[in-house]
Amino acid sequence: MAAERFRDKIEKLIPADGWGRPLLWYASVGSTNDVALNLARQGFREGTVVGAEEQTKGRGRGDRGWFSPRGTGLWFSLILRPSLPPPYLGRIGLWTSLAVLEGVRATTGIDADLSWPNDILVRGRKLAGILAESSGAAGAVEYVVVGVGLNVNQDTADFPARLQTVATSLKEEVGKELDRAPLLANLLLHLRESYSAHSSNGFSDIAQHWKAHAGLLGKRVEIRWGTDRLTGQAADIGQDGELLLRVPSGVLRKIAWGQASIL
Ligand code: BTN
Repeated sequence: MAAERFRDKIEKLIPADGWGRPLLWYASVGSTNDVALNLARQGFREGTVVGAEEQTKGRGRGDRGWFSPRGTGLWFSLILRPSLPPPYLGRIGLWTSLAVLEGVRATTGIDADLSWPNDILVRGRKLAGILAESSGAAGAVEYVVVGVGLNVNQDTADFPARLQTVATSLKEEVGKELDRAPLLANLLLHLRESYSAHSSNGFSDIAQHWKAHAGLLGKRVEIRWGTDRLTGQAADIGQDGELLLRVPSGVLRKIAWGQASIL
């Protein structure tokens, strides 16, 4: 679908004061996070959404790429201006993954799992990923860009070979193509509601809900970051969204970076 048609369709579905105003939707960009970071720097307001039909340099966490072919997924980035000091940034990724899970469930009935820090999985395969990036100085966050990549209408065969056994899409899970516009409108609604709840009820509420969907708590996991590996039992989520990992010596370690997988 042409980018302008998609944007017009979305604009009819989101409330006048909802997130996605303004909504900038491109036919093709390198990375929507890069475009949104640039707009945030220029002063674009909280709730601004930048999306694209295709990303040619989609970015994932830990310097990985993000496969973002034309017209098949939702590749978008949201500008936030939270009043949080930088140590709490880890919370934003957890909060976003929970809101995306809820938006997906409300639209499709699919109950996905969450993995630390912010992967959304179905049957152990990655359905969506979140990349939160921020800028600030002197202990304050100036802005955060939260990038969401959600696989919607790909068939398994559309993924590159290395992803075919580890990725999935909503189409693969529900067995039919989905209209991306109402899905995006629902995601933005859930993100907005959950953000307000987070601001008023604090993180513990979000953490409780996140944990209810996290298959890895209590299990043996491996944490990878770069070439480093650490194994232990995933015990809990800490106050800043970090993973509390019980390592073999019995010590509980706070893990702020990395990628967990169940062993
Ligand atoms: C991950 O590694 O799991 C995070 C993937 C995040 C991908 C999204 S797609 C929209 C936004 N733009 C990017 O370049 N990345 C994020």
